[in-house]
Amino acid sequence: MTDAATTARPARRPKNPCFSSGPCAKRPGWTASALDRALVGRSHRSGPGKDRLADVLKRSRALLGMPDDYRIGIVPASDTGAVEMALWSLLGARGTDVLAWESFGSGWVTDVTKQLKLKDVRVLDAPYGRLPDLARVDWSRDVVFTWNGTTSGVRVPNGDWIAADREGLAICDATSAAFAMKLPWDRLDVVTYSWQKVMGGEAQHGVLVLSPRAVERLLSYTPPWPMPKIFRMTSGGKLIEGIFKGETINTPSMVCVEDALDGLKWGEAIGGAAALAARSEGNLAVIARWVERTPWVEFLAADPAIRSCTSVCLSIVDPWFAALTEDRQASVPKKIDALLEKEGVAYDINGYRDAPPGLRIWAGATVEADDLEALVPWLDWAFATVKAEVAAAA
Ligand SMILES: Cc1ncc(COP(=O)(O)O)c(C=O)c1O
Repeated sequence: MTDAATTARPARRPKNPCFSSGPCAKRPGWTASALDRALVGRSHRSGPGKDRLADVLKRSRALLGMPDDYRIGIVPASDTGAVEMALWSLLGARGTDVLAWESFGSGWVTDVTKQLKLKDVRVLDAPYGRLPDLARVDWSRDVVFTWNGTTSGVRVPNGDWIAADREGLAICDATSAAFAMKLPWDRLDVVTYSWQKVMGGEAQHGVLVLSPRAVERLLSYTPPWPMPKIFRMTSGGKLIEGIFKGETINTPSMVCVEDALDGLKWGEAIGGAAALAARSEGNLAVIARWVERTPWVEFLAADPAIRSCTSVCLSIVDPWFAALTEDRQASVPKKIDALLEKEGVAYDINGYRDAPPGLRIWAGATVEADDLEALVPWLDWAFATVKAEVAAAA
């Protein structure tokens, strides 16, 4: 259905139009009263403050199924802060492989090659919609990768490609994967994420998880460059254990902390990690059924094994669209996004600015499958409407 004359304006709207890929939809039923208990005006270093922070860590650890000997801490500057802390603190001890298949991975390549200026670096990359050849990764080296490429909707299929007996560290940016995709802890040494993705929390706090091998590296290796206070995890040759007990490096927002707790309690109440992942996979399935029956759209990730169940990226494949100039192609998803925002149907579903023109729909655990069911007829309607408008203006 790509013709305005045959594409009826749907009657039903999604109850929640929030389909942004970050900050993502709040959990179903969320209201600001979730923050009533927030420890505002109190020190995060007070007894109750530390208890709240420790509670977030305890519940996150349990929900993620982390091994007891892994450490988890809340760090400054969201996921970016957590990744950079890891890169600055750990890299340089051996060669590094960096994987990139969309803009966030490319950002880590820039850090490693242009900022840290590491000498022995291999960049394994792939275009939007694909993964690099994972068999080429050399596990005698440190390896930096993104579990789910948020801007291309491509995830690694599992952790089987990560050597169990690796010598290097597996450093994984899991910000749009954690809580929606199973993370094989025995294959991961550093995992980072932020609160505003799958759990629908508030932004600006990062979470950093370290395996015993990552800690061992911190204790046995001192990078040659200066280490700003907000990246520092050791002092006098010892790990600053407080970071992993809720003694944050600098001041966290106790409102965000309360909201993170609310999200975690919701995750526990609906059945934990398996239920969260099932919601996200179910959401992907709703979109996949629609893509299957819709001629004008395809997944950017052609291979179903690597298709994200959180940041679902779609390409417009209508022959009319393919024949447009690049600029006019880019205008189409932008107009669809604007039209659906105006209708109060969907917010922020234009693809990422560096990705090929298309749509990106967040399908993480806080999104309701029924809202996606309600959304997809609107996508047909918006595409037909925009197509007619752009064609008329030509
Ligand atoms: C894969 C990935 N890495 C890093 C980031 C940056 O996260 P933050 O804004 O929490 O620093 C994002 C944000 O969307 C992301 O999706």
